[in-house]
Amino acid sequence: MSTWANLGLQDSASPLMEQLIFFHDHALLILVMITVLVGYLMFMLFFNNYINRFLLHGQLIEMIWTILPAIILLFIAFPSLRLLYLLDEINEPSVTLKSIGHQWYWSYEYSDFNNVEFDSYMIPTNEIANDGFRLLDVDNRIVLPMNSQIRILVTAADVIHSWTIPALGVKVDGTPGRLNQTNFFINRPGLFYGQCSEICGANHSFMPIVIESVPVNYFIKWISSNLNSSLD
Ligand code: CUA
Repeated sequence: MSTWANLGLQDSASPLMEQLIFFHDHALLILVMITVLVGYLMFMLFFNNYINRFLLHGQLIEMIWTILPAIILLFIAFPSLRLLYLLDEINEPSVTLKSIGHQWYWSYEYSDFNNVEFDSYMIPTNEIANDGFRLLDVDNRIVLPMNSQIRILVTAADVIHSWTIPALGVKVDGTPGRLNQTNFFINRPGLFYGQCSEICGANHSFMPIVIESVPVNYFIKWISSNLNSSLD
């Protein structure tokens, strides 16, 4: 999660987020080079004394300054397309998680495991623990296995929501009447925080999402204990 004075991207915890950061840095480098070049040219114009009174046209320079930016843009466009298709690729998921956005909370379903389902509400500020994070912690966390391909299906029951986890590079809108899909792979164990990034509803937004990433055997233990409790 991001902490104080953290203005950049969060550290990646998935291969897709790693690629997104590489692309961000690549695009930023091109942007800086263009800004420096144009800034230098504009600055130097103030000190230019040369004037050509008979200048009416310059076909060559106009060809150059039209085609050159187009070529530079291709260096952004092709990596961007590569990333777009990479994000859309589904690679034999071993777990599917369905997340449904409601006003004020998310609800989750593990459809592969006898439909284990629960709601996940934000912990109110007056009930938060001393080591808890205000507006970010939830009462029921999602538990997912690390080092596994995970598919998420996102939808909403009332208004548009967006299931967003910055460290995993996931951002999918949940829209009533639609089922959206994406996938990710968590590199390491830990807690991953996210917030809804759509408008949600009147006077609220940022419905929190917490993923608890655990080794696969811990996940099996967790899911089977929930199976048993729902059967009792
Ligand atoms: Cu749900 Cu913003």
